[in-house]
Amino acid sequence: MRIRRHGSFLSIETPAKLNLFLEVLGRRDDGYHELETVMASVGLYDTLRFLPDSSGVVSLQTRLALSPVDGHPQSAPCAPGENLVLRAAELLRTQTGATHGAAIELIKRSPWQSGLGGASSDAAATLVGLNELWGLNLSTAELHHLAAKLGSDVNFFLSGSRGAICRGRGEKIEPIRLPLTGWFVIAQPKGGLSTAEVFRRWSPADSPRRAAAFLEELRAERSAGRWYNALLGPARTLHPGLEEVLHELGAVSPRQPSLTGSGSACFALFGTHRDATRCARRLRALQKYRVSVAACRT
Ligand code: C5P
Repeated sequence: MRIRRHGSFLSIETPAKLNLFLEVLGRRDDGYHELETVMASVGLYDTLRFLPDSSGVVSLQTRLALSPVDGHPQSAPCAPGENLVLRAAELLRTQTGATHGAAIELIKRSPWQSGLGGASSDAAATLVGLNELWGLNLSTAELHHLAAKLGSDVNFFLSGSRGAICRGRGEKIEPIRLPLTGWFVIAQPKGGLSTAEVFRRWSPADSPRRAAAFLEELRAERSAGRWYNALLGPARTLHPGLEEVLHELGAVSPRQPSLTGSGSACFALFGTHRDATRCARRLRALQKYRVSVAACRT
């Protein structure tokens, strides 16, 4: 998360994430699933600007800066209560009794329902931004407590880690240094996936894989190990288009591509920016996918 102060307003650039490894260890009594996942933040940023509003109203204006693709919806979910930015602002106000207002502008580059964590990243930025704009002085621990209420991925973005093993429902963060360099090509087929729906389709594996073994393999190879995502099976049953995008990425990528989170975006890693942009051009020409090139931030 990159924070800039310009007089009375604040601007934050907040990254997206990829799940390089994701194992589901089991269902929990609270309806969530116990996870072990290796997250990497990547250089695909949303921008949030926060301006004080003396009327005490919190407002949000979203500007879409997504690459346009035929058939992809161009509207953003911004109804109060649905949008995590507004929920984060409301949570800060109810928890602290603050009555301040803010005009928030969101420039959206990460598509929703993609598994890239854009909404969670925006929520984390909102907690940080408004804590500062409103002079609330909440500690990092207090912000983490609020982050966990907003969603399972919000703590990762709040931690500012470039890489982490995330456990619990995803909110317990162990920052790690990932031995990765290069550029990711991220491609989202038409139509997103609902996280809850994908988790509902998951069924337990015989012997779960562990993040430690994945990281060992990654370090031993000194480049990308084999990505793994236990939600790929259930996601495939819900979205037939995943097969094709994985095939298209796999045809030009030196390593097998994978799905991030509960999808529907897929990714592949390339050693050079040139190879990544060549792959992105090829995929864009198909006019079926929303395609981004994002740097490894490790
Ligand atoms: O935490 P978040 O709001 O992002 O989760 C959305 C939905 O995904 C949850 O309501 C739950 O159904 C599912 N989920 C889960 N286990 C997790 C994370 C999310 O079952 N660890």
